Amino acid sequence: MQQTAVITGAASGIGAATAERFLVKGINVIGVDLTPAFREDDKLGWVQGDVSKTETWTQVSEELTKREWDADILVTSAAYLAVGNVLDLTDEQWANTINVNQLGLVKAVRCVLPQMIERKHGAIVTVGSIDSYMAEQGLIAYCTSKGGILQFTRSLALDHARDGIRVNCVCPGVTDTPLFRHHLSTASDPESFLKTREQRNPIGRLLKPEEIANTIAFLASDEASGITGAQIVADGGLTTGFDFRTGEEGA
Ligand SMILES: NC(=O)c1ccc[n+]([C@@H]2O[C@H](COP(=O)([O-])OP(=O)(O)OC[C@H]3O[C@@H](n4cnc5c(N)ncnc54)[C@H](O)[C@@H]3O)[C@@H](O)[C@H]2O)c1
Repeated sequence: MQQTAVITGAASGIGAATAERFLVKGINVIGVDLTPAFREDDKLGWVQGDVSKTETWTQVSEELTKREWDADILVTSAAYLAVGNVLDLTDEQWANTINVNQLGLVKAVRCVLPQMIERKHGAIVTVGSIDSYMAEQGLIAYCTSKGGILQFTRSLALDHARDGIRVNCVCPGVTDTPLFRHHLSTASDPESFLKTREQRNPIGRLLKPEEIANTIAFLASDEASGITGAQIVADGGLTTGFDFRTGEEGA
């Protein structure tokens, strides 16, 4: 059966790697992003717009209808990240964080879910973060929004398990994408921040967006038919436990 995936944040990083992965697997993709499509492809539809705006999702529905595609998969990768503590961040930055990271997810789900319920079939993969369950300095708004994504994922999974819809959350660790590079650029010494991030990762390096895309593709596939309401952590071991010995001989 020809499948279709709607992917937010599909122009860059993890979203783009996921779109590529699905296209290679022969899955149609509708990308949704603030920026234009990363390339032309018959199997790639595109809506350029803001995930937090209703009109964007009206256009996604129109694009699906025009192409006579039904959404089998939804991946929500678009995100906004503002750096600062609770006193630094403006109301606008908080509102953007909640609008893009949470309301954008709600609107995406509302767009595809009714039709998935009707067809008794669908896989939704939300993109959380290790910041969905751990806190990180200077990212209070982002962490708040990512924690909410995890609870949204679990609630949605329970509400629609008997409708034949699976909902899971991928929690990436530090992944080399433009979003991470933006975060890096806010550090007083980006070079040393990068080195610390690499060294503190048990695998000794940053993750690649393709590694997260592979995890997303697994959760979206029938191979994960028994998995719903779960979080899969793809972080190179970063949040597995304490690591007091890195750099010591033999560690
Ligand atoms: N890179 C990491 O280290 C990391 C770690 C944990 C979680 N994540 C999560 O992975 C997801 C993808 O991030 P990435 O690192 O690939 O970032 P990225 O910046 O490479 O890609 C994000 C994409 O989302 C789009 N986008 C942003 N706001 C949008 C909006 N309002 N409407 C539509 N599109 C919008 C951007 O244009 C961009 O193309 C995010 O949810 C992020 O929180 C990333």
